[in-house]
Amino acid sequence: MTTTASESLWLQDLPEQPRSSLSGRHGFDVAIVGGGITGLTTALLLKRRGLRVAVLEAGRVGGGASGNNTAKVTALQSTVYTTVTRTHGPAAAADYAKASVRAVDQVAELVASEQIDCGFRRAPAFTYAFSEREVNAVEEEFDAARRAGLPVRASADLDVPFDVHAAVRLDDQVALHPVRYLTGLARAVSGDGSQVFEHSRVTDVTEHQVSTWDGAVAAPHVVIATHVPLLDRGLYFARLELNRAYCIAARVPAGVPSALAISAGEEKWSISAYEDLLIVAGQSHRTGHRPSASPFGALEAFARKHWDVDEVTHRWSAQDPTSYDHLPMIGPYLPGSTSLYTATGFMKWGLTGGTFAASLLADLVTGKPNPFADRFSPHRLSLTSAPRLARINAEVAVAMIGDRLVPADASSSERLPRGEAHVVRDGLGKTGVYRDHDGQLHAVSMRCTHLGCLVRFNRAETSWDCPCHGSRFDVDGEVLEGPATSPLPRRDPR
Ligand SMILES: Cc1cc2nc3c(=O)[nH]c(=O)nc-3n(C[C@H](O)[C@H](O)[C@H](O)COP(=O)(O)OP(=O)(O)OC[C@H]3O[C@@H](n4cnc5c(N)ncnc54)[C@H](O)[C@@H]3O)c2cc1C
Ligand code: FES
Repeated sequence: MTTTASESLWLQDLPEQPRSSLSGRHGFDVAIVGGGITGLTTALLLKRRGLRVAVLEAGRVGGGASGNNTAKVTALQSTVYTTVTRTHGPAAAADYAKASVRAVDQVAELVASEQIDCGFRRAPAFTYAFSEREVNAVEEEFDAARRAGLPVRASADLDVPFDVHAAVRLDDQVALHPVRYLTGLARAVSGDGSQVFEHSRVTDVTEHQVSTWDGAVAAPHVVIATHVPLLDRGLYFARLELNRAYCIAARVPAGVPSALAISAGEEKWSISAYEDLLIVAGQSHRTGHRPSASPFGALEAFARKHWDVDEVTHRWSAQDPTSYDHLPMIGPYLPGSTSLYTATGFMKWGLTGGTFAASLLADLVTGKPNPFADRFSPHRLSLTSAPRLARINAEVAVAMIGDRLVPADASSSERLPRGEAHVVRDGLGKTGVYRDHDGQLHAVSMRCTHLGCLVRFNRAETSWDCPCHGSRFDVDGEVLEGPATSPLPRRDPR
């Protein structure tokens, strides 16, 4: 699990019994690494084309970002059309809109044809102005979304108990229970020569084979759907920026809104609902950078300010990559690859993006032309986004060097309070020490096993997070999220 998952509204509904893990050598037509929405949808579309598919998931199906979000499947996505129009022009925004609309339809079709019981409901999506200052952004998004071909309306009729200063509305979008949806996809993939393996972390990939500690799958085609691509070749990590965000669910006796809403400003307030629970999300920050003092507390305060809240029932969080040029990257892993593919960079909208990625990947694997192949190619060049790419990597360099110069917090952990972490000098390196609520110390090397940046403690989630490319580790060093694939070495607590 990648987050404070023990309190996730969605992951509490994972099937108790995991699927079997991979052992021994097997042959399939396609090996797909990653059991999130991208991997499982790709697998099902390929199975429908008559291919035998293996999905290898490191943990549980849906345990990644796909099971830790706000569960909106929508083509209206905050201010995405303004951003894509600015970065790539109106034709790119129109392609993004077309692909997103098809993805919403595709999800509806899969739910119906595979009879997936996932609380599917249609609802209007909104991008709204939470303050007067956000009105311009909403108006701009309305124009950009309309020019991109979406049937949006300027309408602020959201059923929320606070003033909305302006809003864009798109009807007939979708809310669902993502883990139940993914469990349904996994069930549909399994059988007739295809299989989904859980607890099967892939440790090695070649063009035609993927291997775990206990087994291997040989396949003419391999799809890497691991959220951040697993392999360093291709340098995806250097073209992505990882941002975390936090979610709560709360019981509100007066009734929940039907709208799927998100604000247009820099600080996002995302609002939706599942059954009788209100969902509020936001508090975004770069992974490895300090969140606000209490991101869950800030969300709870927002909910209590606007609704009469009986109880906060769930808390969860996740991160998602955004590419340097603000479009998903979907296609051949390296320029010219004809057997190794990937998809990433969904900008916190991957229930839609991962679904349209799956159609494109299925076409690439089966040699069918796809109208979006060039638009989303990971190897496109975006000169207008070069300064952002330079900025992302300059910040990595600063973190890589700067953190080494920061002195340790203490020379021993004797006085470290419960629930706190600090940094102890350890010869030439640094050790991160955490004292749990039972008083036990957990100590790990702070050198990220990806490329060596120093990890930082995330108090909101009790994890060690890397500011460079977003890898995360638990307090005993186990990998929570890549690109790192090896744990942080344990140290003796001092
Ligand atoms: C707070 C938040 C809210 C969001 N809300 C929405 C929303 O409302 N609507 C929306 O469309 N999007 C939303 N998103 C984004 C969306 O959840 C993601 O973009 C999407 O789920 C990504 O899907 P994925 O399949 O690419 O990745 P994941 O779901 O992360 O799947 C990748 C899988 O690969 C596995 N894996 C990793 N390494 C290995 C390995 N070595 N071997 C085997 N398996 C491996 C992981 O365990 C994981 O299960 C939100 C994101 C955040 C952060
Ligand atoms: S994730 Fe790249 S150095 Fe840590």
